[in-house]
Amino acid sequence: MKLALGAPCLSLAGLALATLVAGCSPAVQGETQRIGPVDEQGRFPLRIGKLVKRRQIAPLMNVAHADWLTRPERDAEEQPDRVVEQLHIPRGGTVVDLGAGVGYFTWRLARAVGPAGHVIAVDIQPGMIELLEKNLADRGVTNVRTVLGSEGDPRLPPGSADLVLLVDVYHELQEPELTMDAVRKALKPNGRLAVIEYRQEDPSIPIDPLHKMTVGELRGEIEPIGFRFDELLDFLPKQHIVIFRRDGAL
Ligand SMILES: C[S@@+](CC[C@H](N)C(=O)[O-])C[C@H]1O[C@@H](n2cnc3c(N)ncnc32)[C@H](O)[C@@H]1O
Repeated sequence: MKLALGAPCLSLAGLALATLVAGCSPAVQGETQRIGPVDEQGRFPLRIGKLVKRRQIAPLMNVAHADWLTRPERDAEEQPDRVVEQLHIPRGGTVVDLGAGVGYFTWRLARAVGPAGHVIAVDIQPGMIELLEKNLADRGVTNVRTVLGSEGDPRLPPGSADLVLLVDVYHELQEPELTMDAVRKALKPNGRLAVIEYRQEDPSIPIDPLHKMTVGELRGEIEPIGFRFDELLDFLPKQHIVIFRRDGAL
């Protein structure tokens, strides 16, 4: 069984961890695929390439809490305009916002690629796609294609993307290996993958540990799938931005 949290665990940033954990009520969401039993710390084994790693995957952020994705204080904390600027997105390029939610990064990416460029915004929750499409329409954004993906398949065209961006998403991918393999195939030969996550290395960041990841964890899981580490951007107060390049031929 896969557990989904009834409250937006990630949304409780700024509150004490104890409050956050207490605010999460489990609800059954469906079946999940694990390759072994849960250990005494609640972690189950995942197969990543030829490696098996132990990490407990976070539940999906429920669409019922989507308001949190556009909370006013988010701009100061996550500095989305600076992030997009620092990603050096090519004008006229193709960028994928994987796990786009309501589009908080999507409309900024759409501006960065310009009218000749394209953004593909993927989410697996139809409710998120609806909100995303409304937000794009309200802003008059026309160079975004929305895609309803599935847990293991983001349904991306092969060899097409200059950049794939995941913001606060990787830790909740239910099928990380399948999804990242599809991301790799969707990238152009020298395309980049940018993963933004809350810093697990910093215990003072008051986010449920399930929703934080270390650079080592990200590299350890993503590189064996066919990526090479490119750059670490560490200017955000609570998150790191880990950039990878697609490794190998198409
Ligand atoms: C915490 S929200 C972040 C949304 C957005 N990236 C942002 O920063 O505002 C995570 C989103 O990832 C989506 N998601 C989770 N797993 C996914 C997958 N395998 N493929 C596509 N979207 C996924 C969830 O539905 C949710 O909308």
